[in-house]
Amino acid sequence: MNIRVGIIGMGVISRFYVEALINKLKSPVLSAVCDLNVDRMKRFADMEIPCYVDYKELLLREDIDAVVINVPNDKHFEICRTALLAGKHVCCEKPMTLTLDEAEELVRVSRETGFTMFTAFHRRYNVHFVKALEKLSSVDEIAAVHLHYLEKIEEHAGEDRWYLQPERCGGGCIADNGPNAFDTLAFFLGHMTVQNVDIKRNEHGVDIEAHIELVTDSNIEVHVHLDWDYPNGEKKDVRILLKDGREIYADMLAGFNEFKSSLYHEYEEILLDFKSKI
Ligand SMILES: NC(=O)c1ccc[n+]([C@@H]2O[C@H](COP(=O)([O-])OP(=O)(O)OC[C@H]3O[C@@H](n4cnc5c(N)ncnc54)[C@H](O)[C@@H]3O)[C@@H](O)[C@H]2O)c1
Repeated sequence: MNIRVGIIGMGVISRFYVEALINKLKSPVLSAVCDLNVDRMKRFADMEIPCYVDYKELLLREDIDAVVINVPNDKHFEICRTALLAGKHVCCEKPMTLTLDEAEELVRVSRETGFTMFTAFHRRYNVHFVKALEKLSSVDEIAAVHLHYLEKIEEHAGEDRWYLQPERCGGGCIADNGPNAFDTLAFFLGHMTVQNVDIKRNEHGVDIEAHIELVTDSNIEVHVHLDWDYPNGEKKDVRILLKDGREIYADMLAGFNEFKSSLYHEYEEILLDFKSKI
């Protein structure tokens, strides 16, 4: 089945979807784009891809099967809900919503309408992480897991500073990077319970660094370190300590020397996984 997809939000992350849709995948096909800023759509207008400033107009198109929602975090809920009710399958950037109630409402609307609600957790597709998991025979081998997700947020943000406004971002590094970090872990460890959280906030109330201790249902200890003020570029890795003393290590950025270049293969996999769930 050929899926026709529209992207809502043509900022920093849109280029990874666009590259996969235009240059890598036969399906889904990029069939429309939307952004409040018309300059961000010029390239697509030149390619005769329909462009919209109002996402509701894009949703009226009957020839669009699905949408990718790639707007600031505080806009996810409203646009996801409207898209599901308009009869579109939805792939939304993380975090799906800013509150649990909103997330549960989207799950409810998705079930009622029968349209897929999918969250784009890109790290679970990272090639180094996938290869590391192949070395693990069973979760029962694991004694503890450490994950680092360290970056300087200003290097990742676009022109709009919504990341540094807690009410738009959801708080800071826990709400924004946390979903990728926790999904990467829950993907192979299953359900985890928070034991302790140590948060450092800056003068604007933004969560700038956090240490989070979790435990899995089978008592594996998990430590997550998130940092938005890391001075040395980026560090995103997982260290799995085994009960027999060995360790499995995945540096998720190894070999991806160009800034954000690991995202190309991860976003291609997001779209393929999304398609498989429609
Ligand atoms: N930047 C990263 O490193 C990164 C990584 C992974 C995931 N994400 C997630 O991707 C999403 C987008 O982040 P980004 O960095 O691309 O943000 P961005 O600010 O660069 O882009 C957001 C775009 O959405 C547009 N927009 C805002 N409201 C809109 C509306 N109502 N209708 C249409 N367009 C609208 C803006 O004009 C802007 O072009 C966020 O949820 C973020 O958490 C970002």
